[in-house]
Amino acid sequence: MTLPRNFFKPLAIGAPEPFRELPVRLERMIHFIPAHNEKLRSRVPELVRKVDVLLGNLEDGVPVESKAAAREGFIEMGRSVDFGSTELWVRINALSTPWALDEITEIVAEVGEQLDVIMLPKVDGPWDIHYLDRLLAQLEAKHALTHPILIHCILETAEGVTNVEAIAASSPRLHGMSLGPADLAASRAMKTTRVGGGHPDYKVMADPGPGNRASYQQDLWHYSLGRMVDACVANGIKPFWGPFGDFNDPDGCEAQFRSAFVQGCVGAWSLYPEQIEIAKRVFSPDPAEVAFAKRILESMPDGSGAVMIDGKMQDDATWRQAKVMVDRARIVAAKDPERAKLYGF
Ligand code: GLV
Ligand code: MG
Repeated sequence: MTLPRNFFKPLAIGAPEPFRELPVRLERMIHFIPAHNEKLRSRVPELVRKVDVLLGNLEDGVPVESKAAAREGFIEMGRSVDFGSTELWVRINALSTPWALDEITEIVAEVGEQLDVIMLPKVDGPWDIHYLDRLLAQLEAKHALTHPILIHCILETAEGVTNVEAIAASSPRLHGMSLGPADLAASRAMKTTRVGGGHPDYKVMADPGPGNRASYQQDLWHYSLGRMVDACVANGIKPFWGPFGDFNDPDGCEAQFRSAFVQGCVGAWSLYPEQIEIAKRVFSPDPAEVAFAKRILESMPDGSGAVMIDGKMQDDATWRQAKVMVDRARIVAAKDPERAKLYGF
């Protein structure tokens, strides 16, 4: 175990200092682009104005014979597109694959300065993070990068879920985690072929009695997502829902995103343009709440004391809640002119 005194020291001489607190950023959706696909890459300059995070995918979904093209396509995209305030992420292949090492070394060498986050799939334990953490520090030093590249884990193996607390506490380079329901289902031999969402066989039945017995579908992911949210929040990193695979079911997608949001997640993946709008709806603050929060801030200009608004008591603590809400709405408004109008900014 690293000594507390050393936890925040760079892991290579000349590497940038790790963040003590994560930078405040808007990450309602992580939008996936298959990085080997030239046609989809050509739409990126227009897409960056609509999304909070644009991710080049090199892992699952990219055929084996296109892995090198995906790596090169991502580098070309990182070099040629102006991302402005939109974050640039990459999902590399798992550390156990023959592609991961070249992806990490070449991408950091070529577009390290533009890259915000590496998404690391199939993280089983803190050892995976320690490996990538040290390697990134060496590469950052070698290429004289000015900011640390963060790591976002996908929680998608039974071993990873078992070790989730240790993973979340393993490095100041961690950005957060996403729950990956497809690989997690495979890893655990769950009896579902869906990517997220419920399953009709995972249900409870009402007691026997007169008439039809009602049955209720349950949330297959509640246990793992709850553990992940606690592990992330306890360590100051961010929890996300991963993919929702049924593109013909926008209501199912919205319900999945919303229940993750209610449970503490701050964003989700979008794999398809319609899911961008769903994520914006779900993960942006509610305009009515923002309007109320603005009234609290206006009625307590120095943030202390107590006032009544619409019969509800407000004090220093609700002022702080209101400030979180209005600050977040301002971040959203800076990126999203439609919501800026709804919030009255
Ligand atoms: C995502 O990578 C998943 O496996 O669900
Ligand atoms: Mg996966």
